[in-house]
Amino acid sequence: MKIDVLTIFPEMFTGPMDASIIGRAREKGILSVNTHDVRAYTTNKHRRVDDTPFGGGAGMVMNAQPFFDALAALCGPQEQRDPLRSRVALLTPQGAVFNQAKARELSGLQQLVLICGRYEGIDDRVRQAWVDEEISIGDYVLTGGELPAMVVIDAVARLLPGTLGDETSAEEESFSDGLLEYPQYTKPALFRGMEAPPELLSGHHEAIRRWRRKEAFKRTYQKRPELLIGRPFPFDDRVLLAE
Ligand code: ADE
Repeated sequence: MKIDVLTIFPEMFTGPMDASIIGRAREKGILSVNTHDVRAYTTNKHRRVDDTPFGGGAGMVMNAQPFFDALAALCGPQEQRDPLRSRVALLTPQGAVFNQAKARELSGLQQLVLICGRYEGIDDRVRQAWVDEEISIGDYVLTGGELPAMVVIDAVARLLPGTLGDETSAEEESFSDGLLEYPQYTKPALFRGMEAPPELLSGHHEAIRRWRRKEAFKRTYQKRPELLIGRPFPFDDRVLLAE
């Protein structure tokens, strides 16, 4: 998968995008992340990428021109684009709130282009002409779309086949089946008077599986009960929870 990021702060991405799992995915050739400096595309002789808003008001608005030229360079002609293969997303608090289902959907694309806004926003004609979807990472306002873009990249990267060491680990955890993750323990079995659950030490795979599933339900019910609303409730789980 190829991820292109349009930003005026490409340097913000250098450390985080080289570390850990994302770095490994990039080394393995599973993922390529390329940042593109919007300023490199401006035709303004002073290299400006923003201007005062029409209609007045505080702050600056990013010009449409550098984005149009950068997007044409990255995506080819607007009319030939296939949103099932290549998607242009704008990071903005006005977007739909990002979640695991969206991460999974994006992980199936060949190309994802992330546009990071700054200042008061970007000239709306960029959104009208190029943006397939708007993504927010939560109901709060950050100074720009760079950190949200990194959040999206991280969540998508770890879903790409081959990125995580253990292929099942992305599937088994929180949200992939709509439940929070069960509690984990490791050695020693007794630590400062606190025991690890005996089920986990039993060596019985079925007992361990059942304990974990029950704990996942318990945690979800206690911490995020709204996740259970409208979620399918398979027969096996009903039997397990009725025990
Ligand atoms: N830009 C500023 N705040 C944001 C948010 N919460 N999500 C996505 N992009 C943003």
